[in-house]
Amino acid sequence: AASDHVRLVEVGPRDGLQNEKTAITLETKVELVRRLARTGLQTIEAGSFVSPKWVPQMANSDKIMQDVLSDTPESPVPITYQWLLPNMKGLDNFFSVYGGANKTDQTHQDAYPTPPPTPPPVSQSTPHIEAHGPRHEVSIFMAATESFSQRNTNCSIAESLERFGPLMTAARDKGFAVRAYISVALGCPFEGPDTDPHRVAELSATLLEMGADEISVADTTGMGTAPRTRELLKVLAAAGIRNDDLALHFHDTYGQALVNTLVGLEHGVRTFDSAVGGLGGCPYSPGATGNVSTEDVVYILHSLGLGTGVDLNELSSIGDWITSEVGKPNESRAGKATLAR
Ligand code: HMG
Ligand code: MG
Repeated sequence: AASDHVRLVEVGPRDGLQNEKTAITLETKVELVRRLARTGLQTIEAGSFVSPKWVPQMANSDKIMQDVLSDTPESPVPITYQWLLPNMKGLDNFFSVYGGANKTDQTHQDAYPTPPPTPPPVSQSTPHIEAHGPRHEVSIFMAATESFSQRNTNCSIAESLERFGPLMTAARDKGFAVRAYISVALGCPFEGPDTDPHRVAELSATLLEMGADEISVADTTGMGTAPRTRELLKVLAAAGIRNDDLALHFHDTYGQALVNTLVGLEHGVRTFDSAVGGLGGCPYSPGATGNVSTEDVVYILHSLGLGTGVDLNELSSIGDWITSEVGKPNESRAGKATLAR
């Protein structure tokens, strides 16, 4: 039976902010990561090492990483920080920031330990929050369609896989886990909604064989519907992709992300990506809006009796704060309702 704990991967600091046109200060970005770390979230994607010409907003991710390394954020649970990167140049930049400053042993096998069933309550005033040595891992990304692959990474699907071979070997040789995203798995802005699920399954299997520790199947455009999500998950299972190796990453453009989350949960998936305040969007996916909001996901999970370890009140305040910092409406219905209580 599937576990009743769900691991949330908070992608707000990366996916949530990367598409913002006006520069967000380093202080705000660091503050966001630090606040999120206190909520009980287990995994935070804190930045990306991509080309600054392609995504200027993420250009100071090295500074965010330096900050996290030099002054470990307080957190009630052990945290994994993910850093998104597309190629060897990105990995080299990641390594040079990480440098000799190996704060924790990255090599232990249980990448995502399930925290105790009832984690301690978290709040600003909780006196016994302790700093845990964080883990760091890299996330790589590719696409399930050729058009999106070209637009987002200037290379074909085959070239992506060629890049990833040496990249994954180099990352894993140094003990870093690797997560791999597959974009446009439920629809492509250039090729339409009918991404071939068998293609997604084939790429997932290849990436796992190459050494990826987890596949995040992404509905970049938010075109996914419940029936097509169910179909995709069936095809993935038939291809031997285990739920334990799978995360789902929903954008909420059509308002279907929570419905699709429920489909994923019923299928047995227990890792979901989301962004606080519903921020986000991929700069190379025109029209796509933010990720499903973490507050909404936490709310639905708790209503189902599933544990996240996340403090919804804290999270809701963060969603309200960061959306106002970036001058956007708070897209989280559950977050706004929680604050209004
Ligand atoms: P390219 O122009 O083909 O790269 O871009 P290149 O290898 O020809 O290099 C050109 C220049 O870029 C060189 O500099 C390189 O050094 C530099 P120059 O000699 O001209 O001064 N460069 C870099 N600089 C810093 N960091 C690097 C890097 N690589 C090259 N890593 C490339 C190819 C892949 C680099 C580019 O297309 C790119 O950076 N793309 C990233 C786009 C992106 O970040 N998209 C958003 C993230 S993915 C996403 O949001 C989807 C996700 O959320 C899941 C979902 O929802 O689908 C994950
Ligand atoms: Mg995304």
